[in-house]
Amino acid sequence: MKKINLAVVGATGMVGRTFLKVLEERQLPIDNFYVMASSRSAGSKLTFNGKEYTVEELTEHSFDKPIDIALFSAGGGTSEKFAPIAAAHGCIVIDNSSQWRMDPEVPLVVPEVNPEDIAWHKNIIANPNCSTIQAMVALKPLDDKYKIKRVVYSTYQAVSGAGLAGWKDLENGLKGEAPKKFPHPIANNCLPHIDVFLDNGYTKEEMKMVNETRKILHNDEMRVTATTVRVPVFDCHSESINIEFEKPFEMDELLETLKNAPGVVLQNNSAANEYPLAVDAAGHDEVFIGRVRRDESVESGVNIWVVADNIRKGAATNAVQIAEEIIKNMQ
Ligand code: A2P
Repeated sequence: MKKINLAVVGATGMVGRTFLKVLEERQLPIDNFYVMASSRSAGSKLTFNGKEYTVEELTEHSFDKPIDIALFSAGGGTSEKFAPIAAAHGCIVIDNSSQWRMDPEVPLVVPEVNPEDIAWHKNIIANPNCSTIQAMVALKPLDDKYKIKRVVYSTYQAVSGAGLAGWKDLENGLKGEAPKKFPHPIANNCLPHIDVFLDNGYTKEEMKMVNETRKILHNDEMRVTATTVRVPVFDCHSESINIEFEKPFEMDELLETLKNAPGVVLQNNSAANEYPLAVDAAGHDEVFIGRVRRDESVESGVNIWVVADNIRKGAATNAVQIAEEIIKNMQ
């Protein structure tokens, strides 16, 4: 197998460190490996595959050396400036920020859902929002079978989605300290506010879910609405998803469809109190689905509960899976 040169940009961050872990676990065929971050952490050391690497400061010249793939998770501003520089040097950027996701020239990919979109990249591929990724893994098999008409998302999102600073706000908040990252205490609280508010009254996080769903499922007409909520949970996003279909369905068949879908683990035994839980999903790469029940208020609809590790499948693992697809096609 061809070995590639790979860089992680934002390697010291929460997602960045998980990139290293997932790359190690999945044993990507890496030749030269680079870790990059801001000047703040340049010179610090990170261990990868048992070897120490020195963090380099990300600059305009970071991609002068041959790098095949760069995994970026260093914020939108960094991606806006440096992804085009990397791309111009022939490096394929897999970007975890929201910067390029809705650019019509940039594929937005969940490998279980729309791997075919990778083919038309122009050296930048976007990793979707964490809440969108887990929802797509659940929705795609149902859309293929019953054609989705409308989706209502309600999310219960972990503080790790707001990076190290979000994590600290919960940790310190539980000791009675005031929040630094969030506008209100997150300990013992639920904040219906993720990312900034937009003119239409939605938050940017909510509109990411709406727009990214349509782009990934290739359906600009799909009716989608969302309420995204930050909850006092460290890891894993939970989502209640209400779905309305064009076509009728039989519950047995729908459950079988979900059970056989790639990347899905069905945990749907309410009689035994079995349903997906954040504490169980943490550290895993699958999307867990349960509480599947017919929405009796519409002709053809269903309610599901979907949980996944937002730092792994919602960010690092999804990006590494995209890298694996690219490497497969390089052979
Ligand atoms: P640094 O450690 O040098 O600040 P998180 O979202 O968990 O806070 O992580 C953000 C990541 O993005 C960190 O690795 C951080 O590096 C990196 N980062 C932030 N700003 C820049 C920048 N201007 N250039 C390169 N890396 C950046």
